[in-house]
Amino acid sequence: MIVCETVSSMKKARRQMAGRVGCVPTMGYLHEGHLTLLSRARQENDHVVATIFVNPTQFGPHEDLASYPRNPQRDLAMLEGEGIDAVFMPSPEEMYPAGYATYINVEGLTDRLEGASRPGHFRGVATVVAKLFNTVEPHRAYFGQKDAQQLLVIKRMAADLDMNVQVLAVPTVREPDGLAMSSRNTHLSPQERQAATVLYRALTLARELWRSGERDAERLRRQIIELIQKEPLASIDYVSVADPDSLEELAHINSTALVSMAVRIGRTRLIDNTLLGGQSAAHP
Ligand code: PAF
Repeated sequence: MIVCETVSSMKKARRQMAGRVGCVPTMGYLHEGHLTLLSRARQENDHVVATIFVNPTQFGPHEDLASYPRNPQRDLAMLEGEGIDAVFMPSPEEMYPAGYATYINVEGLTDRLEGASRPGHFRGVATVVAKLFNTVEPHRAYFGQKDAQQLLVIKRMAADLDMNVQVLAVPTVREPDGLAMSSRNTHLSPQERQAATVLYRALTLARELWRSGERDAERLRRQIIELIQKEPLASIDYVSVADPDSLEELAHINSTALVSMAVRIGRTRLIDNTLLGGQSAAHP
């Protein structure tokens, strides 16, 4: 496994790779969810490149960039056993050298949900992912459905900018009690970890209500909110029942809906979602 810390060394390693190349962009502190993305990439490609970069431009000034969990040595040891060809692990200065001035804005989709709560977040995500795609030049890139809006934004960007990459969605990996795997879960105290199951419980309630015929989006939102409010350590950022492709809030669910939420458990902000009915761009 080659570890590349510069754009030029990654491009050089890429030139040695014949056949199909799959890429799994990550911010490190790898968990089972990342390993699932990597395993899918390995099955479908001749070579796999993982990237590890805690991207400063996608964090707001009051967000958790400094405390975002990091353990590159452990990440590399995990990747070593996964049959990965190369790891691209640049420094912030390598990605954003002095004078850096170019950013990508995906309009519309990024006004809602995570975009509304975290202004500038998707500008940073789109920019770094475009840079990673330019450096790694993958045929396919794999992203988790936990970040459903991120998937939609990256797909939109790749289509709009005629990028030669297929953006693929991989189902969320969950702990046995339903909590979606996330590097941020490591910040939870034992009591908060217990409280964090409220997100999955809320999604399960949404699915049950949907199955029993509930199609009124506002009633669904209200019942989800009531369930989350019963958890004393939880505070709601948003609860959304939206069109899964445009992310516009729904009044009535005709065919499909993306139920998504951001909830703070103590100081840790967690997100999760589920698709009700059919398929969507992020849940094919
Ligand atoms: O989902 C993530 O880990 C990040 O947002 C990504 C896609 C690696 C970009 O920094």
